[in-house]
Amino acid sequence: MTEQAAEARERRILGTELLWAFGVGVLIAAVLGVIVFTALTADINPPSNVERIDPKTLHLSGEFAEQNLGTTVGADGGVTVRVIATQFMFVPRCIAVPYGRRVTLRFATPDVIHGLLITGTNVNTMVVPGFVAQVYSEFTRAEDLLMPCHEYCGLGHSDMWATVQVLPESAFKPGQDGRVSCAQR
Ligand code: CUA
Repeated sequence: MTEQAAEARERRILGTELLWAFGVGVLIAAVLGVIVFTALTADINPPSNVERIDPKTLHLSGEFAEQNLGTTVGADGGVTVRVIATQFMFVPRCIAVPYGRRVTLRFATPDVIHGLLITGTNVNTMVVPGFVAQVYSEFTRAEDLLMPCHEYCGLGHSDMWATVQVLPESAFKPGQDGRVSCAQR
């Protein structure tokens, strides 16, 4: 091969490499763009709460004791939902939430890693033993939504799911103790 031919070949290779590098760069920028866009517009981002809890005692006292599970409206009007994810059920099995209001959802597990999502919403998190998983959402569909466990947690995994009942403000009535349960239908 002459020197010129070798040089021309080198240039061709360089050209192809640069073309691919540009293509990959565009792809990476597009993926990052979509992540930032959905985070800003649809509130879709990874849960970032780091809060420890002892999985051995969480059910005995404190906020995840049985009488504190479910939906509570605080003195300031803030709505907080507390749920335990355990093999193989969510406690409680039905969660009442208001329509069009910001809701704080807090999850903990006494056994293994679970995961959950609420269909059609931005709620999607892992529930890891030793940590409280906390996410926020505003429900914009007044209907019953499905909340399945989406992390394989054992033989009963496929039976592990709960219902999220999104209630209009007229039906979302906290009792004396500030608690709201699912409407019986
Ligand atoms: Cu819990 Cu799968």
